[in-house]
Amino acid sequence: MTPPKIRMQGLTKAFGERGKRVVALDDFTLSVADGEFVCLVGPSGCGKTTALRIVAGLETADSGTLEVAPGADRKQPQNAMVFQEHGLFPWMTVVDNVAYGLEMRGVRKRARREQVEPFLEMIGLARFRHHYPRQLSGGMRQRVSLARAFVADPEILLMDEPFAALDAQNTLMLQDELLRIWEGSRKTVLYVTHGIDEALALGDRIVVMTAQPGRVKAIVPVDFPRPRSAAELRGDPKFGALQLSIWRMLEDEVRAARAQAEA
Ligand SMILES: Nc1ncnc2c1ncn2[C@@H]1O[C@H](COP(=O)(O)OP(=O)(O)O)[C@@H](O)[C@H]1O
Ligand SMILES: [Mg+2]
Repeated sequence: MTPPKIRMQGLTKAFGERGKRVVALDDFTLSVADGEFVCLVGPSGCGKTTALRIVAGLETADSGTLEVAPGADRKQPQNAMVFQEHGLFPWMTVVDNVAYGLEMRGVRKRARREQVEPFLEMIGLARFRHHYPRQLSGGMRQRVSLARAFVADPEILLMDEPFAALDAQNTLMLQDELLRIWEGSRKTVLYVTHGIDEALALGDRIVVMTAQPGRVKAIVPVDFPRPRSAAELRGDPKFGALQLSIWRMLEDEVRAARAQAEA
């Protein structure tokens, strides 16, 4: 059996000192298989971003163990991240932003352009290849961020509420575009969202986290067949039932997080 692509075992992380100490993660354990799409949901402040940043190597855990892509050669980048916004270089055009990961690996300009082209087509931005981020809408900028992450061909993809700043219609379209790009590559993805519906549309499993300190409360398998359409799935009677059952798990945690915030 192939080992998990991401293995988090008993991760604990606290911030601040003495009086103001915040335990963001406590004994957080989760494995993500090669090619799996796993979504993290949980109330705000429960440590979702912290977990992602630890996996990305941007933060170190106080205790516990982390393994990412064990045994991988280092020709591929280990990870690529997509954030809610501000991920693009404002001084680079669309095509150069998308090609950035390739450039970092020393791929020559002509080869870069060739590899990037199908992705520009896929996200419908071929006509905008020479535009700068400030000339694009928020939805278009997030499309560029997605393409850039996939083009870099990393071992794993980490996404932190990438569509949270977009309106509902744009979000639905980007979910479908993400599904199409992902289905073509089957990268291992760890995806943070506060949308249960988004997690159901995208994920193979949904990890429900507890209020702070963040732990795994439940793991829900999502077995809608692929390829999926984010919009059509919403019409599936199983979708509504799953959405409600996950909300039931989350509800107490959201209440607890609110009580913490008001204390
Ligand atoms: N660099 C930091 N310094 C101090 N506190 C932090 C830092 N990063 C996160 N926290 C705190 O840790 C907790 C979890 O944060 P975060 O992982 O961002 O939660 P989420 O992404 O689930 O909303 C929050 O209480 C947050 O304020
Ligand atoms: Mg966050």
